[in-house]
Amino acid sequence: MEAIRKAAGIIHRYPDGSGKALIEALSLTLRISKDRIVLGNGSDEIIGFLVRALLRQNDAAVMPKPSFLVYEITVRSVGATPVKVPLKDFAIDLEAMADHMRPETKMIFLTNPHNPTGSLITQKDFERFMSRIPAGVVVILDEAYIEFVREPTCLNSLAYVETQNPVVTLRTFSKAYGLAGLRIGYGVMPAELAEIVNRIRAPFNTNSLAQIGAIAALKDPSFVKKTVSLVHEELDFLYTAIRRLGLTVFPSQANYFMIDVKQSADAVFQRLLREGIIVRSMTAYGFPEYMRISIGLHTENIRLVEALKRCL
Ligand SMILES: Cc1ncc(COP(=O)(O)O)c(C=O)c1O
Repeated sequence: MEAIRKAAGIIHRYPDGSGKALIEALSLTLRISKDRIVLGNGSDEIIGFLVRALLRQNDAAVMPKPSFLVYEITVRSVGATPVKVPLKDFAIDLEAMADHMRPETKMIFLTNPHNPTGSLITQKDFERFMSRIPAGVVVILDEAYIEFVREPTCLNSLAYVETQNPVVTLRTFSKAYGLAGLRIGYGVMPAELAEIVNRIRAPFNTNSLAQIGAIAALKDPSFVKKTVSLVHEELDFLYTAIRRLGLTVFPSQANYFMIDVKQSADAVFQRLLREGIIVRSMTAYGFPEYMRISIGLHTENIRLVEALKRCL
């Protein structure tokens, strides 16, 4: 916020269309070459770039079911087909996804940790999966929530540079960095693919204040650390408090988790709404008795537990 306030005087000028300073900062932080990085107006926008650049009518993109709704909406928008593979035990079923490879399959979406379940992909499972994927199919790893992961066996997708499949990592400043309103995210991909994606990117897709805010955020790792440890403390607090209400909790590697309310999640959602609390009913995701709760501040989380008691 401080960096953005200081920079407010420059907004009569166009942004740097190449995002040079932010790309340099990311390249240094992640230790990857600059020509592999593409900036987006949120990581959402990069999903759109990839789909528009690579998918045509009758192509297929394989994705978990349920998953982040933007994948399906974007794939359908170019006339391609989303192939949705159900989760197994609330985690992405990599074996079943590999079973769905067809000649028309051009792209695979994976989310790590997964949204909405918070499940993880391990390095070991990913390598077995990749050995089954036909050459040339683009594998997208959406890591919007990666900073919150506590489990050390988690996949490091940035390590997959020289594989027979282009691997794309999507990251965002919207979650652990607390900059959702700025709309800034990035993709890391093979340089050849980044060059193609940059051809269809509008020249000023990321604004000056977003670029400046993101650079300042990268220079302030203590903020991310504080945010992540707060989220971990509050996850543990809520797991215990909600289990005490007799509900089943599904531990998560992200900053949200699912609970089984053992009745209509839509009905509980409506009652909580009347108490001024918004959670997400998982009915639309195929889990009619589950809700997803995002971590708030401690006082908000206490309020949630109290309200939940009344609403069950
Ligand atoms: C899995 C996943 N990917 C990507 C995004 C988009 O994030 P951004 O704000 O960077 O567009 C979200 C936002 O909710 C998300 O849940």
